Amino acid sequence: MPTETVYGLAADGLNPEALARIFAIKQRPFFDPLILHMAENFELERLVIRISPTARTLMANFWPGPLTLLFPKRELVPDLATSGLPTVAIRCPAHPVAQALLQEFGSPLAAPSANKFGRISPTSAQAVKEELGDEISLVLDGGPCRIGVESTILDVTSDKVFLLRSGGVPLELLEEKIGPIELSGEDAIKAPGMLKSHYAPRTPLLRLQEPWPRDQELPSDTALLAWSNFPVSVERVRVLAPDGDEVAAAAKLFQYLRELDSLGVEKILSEPVPMKGLGRAINDRLERASVGTTV
Ligand code: TXA
Ligand code: MG
Repeated sequence: MPTETVYGLAADGLNPEALARIFAIKQRPFFDPLILHMAENFELERLVIRISPTARTLMANFWPGPLTLLFPKRELVPDLATSGLPTVAIRCPAHPVAQALLQEFGSPLAAPSANKFGRISPTSAQAVKEELGDEISLVLDGGPCRIGVESTILDVTSDKVFLLRSGGVPLELLEEKIGPIELSGEDAIKAPGMLKSHYAPRTPLLRLQEPWPRDQELPSDTALLAWSNFPVSVERVRVLAPDGDEVAAAAKLFQYLRELDSLGVEKILSEPVPMKGLGRAINDRLERASVGTTV
């Protein structure tokens, strides 16, 4: 299914057999819990025991949209969906095709990103086909994903709010509405899926500490994910933010990584990304996709 963040591998979120098939197709470890997606008019109380005032504020401001919230789950939610955790991750996507599908289905759909475990998330129907091909019966084509990085995940189950994954809603916007958010969650084991290595191309990706010098030629065995403009147009270079716009950069990130990965080069270098707005999510994905940094 399309969503505004990335394409999801969707199955009946309340059916353990369907959930098991998601894990099998993705080759995903069972300790990595799934997100349940719901229609705008779905009654959340059917799935969760409690909705805190902070959660309500966030839902009022950012749903439907690229924000996932944790809630204490009801028994109706299968343990397979939450990997045995007492909390369930829920998101109400904004993509009109996703909403239409969810309304028609009438019940939540579990949907992790539609890639093999640890690989680059797909942001087009074509990328889903390349990733999962014959293993799935249907790709619902909703066009290229508008946002291009996964949803922001917040733990709102205690007094403090924890950022578990940076994503489509920038931290600054969230803090404007609910005050300070704890960042320590981003690396915590609370989010088992937040594994160090993730979103990875097959070609080793190295993060540059400084931009590639514009007067220096790029070696023929090397591709570059540049942040700002590059003087000559080279097939091995993709420019994320020609206008310095990190929103547009996020929308292109996974597509460009896929394209550079398909060139058959020895390595991909990525330039530093400013830590502002969606830049936080882009940096997070690049860090997890990379094998390290280089000068
Ligand atoms: O934008 C998105 O969120 C996309 C689209 C398809 O909706 N979905 C997505 O799902 O990114 P996935 O499975 O690739 O990532 C979900 C993450 C996992 O890494 C998992 O660790 C975390 O959500 N998660 C799910 N339930 C959790 C829970 N109860 N506690 C902590 N983390 C949880
Ligand atoms: Mg994923």
